[in-house]
This record gives sequence, C-alpha cells and structure tokens, in this order.
Amino acid sequence: MVSSSTSALRRALLYVPASSTRMLTKSLGLTCDTIIYDLEDSVTPDAKTEARDALNQHLSRLSALPPSVSEIAIRVNRAGSSFLEKDLKLAASIPLVDTVVVPKVNTIGDLRAVSHVLKNFENKSYKEIRNKPIRVIAMIESARAIMNISSIIRGPRLNGLMFAAEDFALDLSLTRTPDLTEFLYARSAMVTAARVENIPSVIDLVCTSYQGKEGLTRLEEECRGGKAMGFNGKQCIHPSQVETVQRLFSPSKKEVEWAVRITVANKKAAAEKRGAWTLDGKMIDAPVFGRAVEIVEKARKCGMDVDGLREKWKDQEPE
Ligand code: COA
Ligand code: MG
Repeated sequence: MVSSSTSALRRALLYVPASSTRMLTKSLGLTCDTIIYDLEDSVTPDAKTEARDALNQHLSRLSALPPSVSEIAIRVNRAGSSFLEKDLKLAASIPLVDTVVVPKVNTIGDLRAVSHVLKNFENKSYKEIRNKPIRVIAMIESARAIMNISSIIRGPRLNGLMFAAEDFALDLSLTRTPDLTEFLYARSAMVTAARVENIPSVIDLVCTSYQGKEGLTRLEEECRGGKAMGFNGKQCIHPSQVETVQRLFSPSKKEVEWAVRITVANKKAAAEKRGAWTLDGKMIDAPVFGRAVEIVEKARKCGMDVDGLREKWKDQEPE
C-alpha cells in the first residue's frame, strides 16, 4: 500500500492538461504544492478518452510523489457528465492521487453523487491499494453555487473550495476588472463559509496573464489581495507563476517575526495576568495573539526557521 501525502498546505496548485504528454512529463520536474492533472476544460470532449489513457500511463509509472510536489490531484468532469465515472475510476485506481477536484459544483447533491461513485471504487475494485478515502475540492463557478454555499460546505469528503472566475463571470455576465471588485461578494462568501466547517483550503482564482513584467505585477497584486481576504492559495496555469504564489501565500518574514515576538511576550504578560498589553505601541489582546499563533504554525508548515526567531526574540517583554 502506498501512503500518500496528508499535508493540507496548498499554496500553489498548478494545472497540467492531461492531453499534453509534453506537459505531463514536464510536471514531474516542477516544484509546487499540488499538481492538478486536468481532464475537464483544457481537454476537448473528443480528446477525453485519449487524455485519460495518457494520464493513466503517466501516473501508473510513478512509484512516489515527485520530490518537490506535496499532492497529486485530478480535475474530473462535472457531476452529471458522461465522463465522470471513468475519471473517478482512474483517480481511485492510483494510490498517489489524494484529491479529486470537482468542477461546477452547484449543490451538495453534486458532491454526494461524486462521493457515492468514489466509495464504490474504494470499497470494491481498489480496496487493496487505498489507505484512506480520496478528498474532494469543490469548484465554485456559478450564482447557484454561491447561493447554495452554506449547504455545499457540508458535502461529503470536502477538503477545499476553489473559485473559478472565468465561468463565474460567464454565468453572471460580469465585466472583468483588474481589481476584481466584481468577484468580491462571491470570494468573500466562500472564505467565510469555509470557516464554518473548518475546511482547510480555500483557493483563489487563476491569474490568466502569466507573461512578462505585467503578468508578474498582476499576479503579485492578486496574491496579496487574495491572502488578505483569507484565501490559502491560488490556482496556477503556468510553472512560472508557482514561485511567486508560494512566496506570497506563505507568511512574510516580517509577519513571522512580529508573530514570534507576540507569542514570546504574551507568555510573560499572561504570567502577570495581563490580557491586554502593548507591542510597538499597538494593543495586543486575545484575538491578536490567536492570529499570531496561527501565523507561527503556518510558518512552520512552510519550512521557515521559527526556532531561530524564537531564540532571537527570547527576551521580548510586553511593553
Ligand atoms: N504544466 C506543465 N508544464 C507546462 C505548463 C503546465 N501548466 N505550462 C507550460 N509548461 C511547459 C511547456 O510545455 C514548456 O515546456 P518545454 O520548455 O519543455 O517546451 C515550458 O513549460 C514553457 O512553456 P511556454 O512556452 O511558456 O507555454 P506554452 O505556450 O507551452 O503553454 C499554456 C501556455 C497557457 C497553454 C499552458 O501553460 C497551459 O496549458 N496551462 C494550463 C492550462 C489549463 O490547464 N487550464 C485549465 C485550468 S484554468
Ligand atoms: Mg471552470
């Protein structure tokens, strides 16, 4: 039995179209948190079978995750599609596949349908090779999905929500703007809803401009905006986007240093029975401390040197 990754650190999730053998091969040498092999919209309907076969061949040859990848996912076709069952069968048959990305989820029923099919494969055909159930990331791409978000978050196997801007814009006839205000309500609704059920990942939209300085500036702005809104990561379409996304969805050095100083000083403040105290002229109380603890934990997951910083700031006192 192959044991697969348990990490939920999803900052950069890179799409690799399963129809491109060149990109499938290329994906093995890339660094990113999650590779999403795509069987949905980057593959035309008449190429689905061929792409599924190519992906099967590609994944069957792997005995372990590529060294710089934490998770392998497959984006299947939507619930109700004639391709779905075969897509899910492929996902269940490969032990290294942890996660299935389900596009165009409109209701909790869509997630139940996917889970039901997965369960059959997990319990029957592939019982011997799987040590845990496949997780699901639901893509939110319609007005209906946003209106149903409070029930979708209770769907079986749900481990993440992902926003799909292009389909959402099409559904609502929105005009795209660089500052993304047209998506504010939907993106904020997703982040808020995910918190209710402690869904570990909420993943922001693709930045479709990926070339040159202009593409990079746009990507950086989108990452900063998404992180500030509470997203954990971002979908990528090109390998050149991954480094920026990973960096900007990790806590910054400045943030971690601030958070470490708070955790150190808070212990001393608590010993003096002070619930509210001051650091750098700003008030620190329970929620600010809670946020600092979260940042320190995330920094550890991202492999940052938290212990070095704790040592550096061990004498930090509350002001
Ligand atoms: N995954 C793996 N490899 C990729 C890649 C990806 N998503 N995007 C590009 N590459 C590879 C290319 O094959 C090329 O490899 P090579 O140097 O060995 O030839 C290299 O990276 C440079 O690629 P580049 O020439 O800059 O881009 P391109 O013109 O080949 O491809 C896209 C541009 C947008 C078509 C391509 O990046 C892509 O298909 N992205 C994913 C799209 C997708 O899945 N959309 C659905 C979800 S929104
Ligand atoms: Mg879509």
